[in-house]
Amino acid sequence: TFVVTESCIRCKYTDCVDVCPTDAFREGPNFLAIDPEDCIDCAVCVPECPVQAIYADEDVPGDQQDFVALNAELARAWPAITRLHAALPDAEAWAPVKLKRAELKR
Ligand code: SF4
Ligand code: F3S
Repeated sequence: TFVVTESCIRCKYTDCVDVCPTDAFREGPNFLAIDPEDCIDCAVCVPECPVQAIYADEDVPGDQQDFVALNAELARAWPAITRLHAALPDAEAWAPVKLKRAELKR
């Protein structure tokens, strides 16, 4: 499966959801998760993300490994998102911030 990582937090550009053939994205207040039950590993979402948040599970960086389980957990709780919408209002300010997992809202 593919996995959304920390750089999505407080950005939520949503370009990724527009291209997903299986509507695998789930939406929380300031982060998206990919449902591993629906992801078919097509990889088309990866280049769409302006902050390079999406990785194949086997390629997730070491300091982001917890996001594999976190995507699965959050995807069970959150509704599907299938259409692009505006990024969060301060997305540009948060895009370069590396350590922001404490900002994740459930
Ligand atoms: Fe959707 Fe493909 Fe991305 Fe999986 S890899 S979330 S199926 S676009
Ligand atoms: Fe997040 Fe990137 Fe999608 S910021 S909402 S993973 S386009």
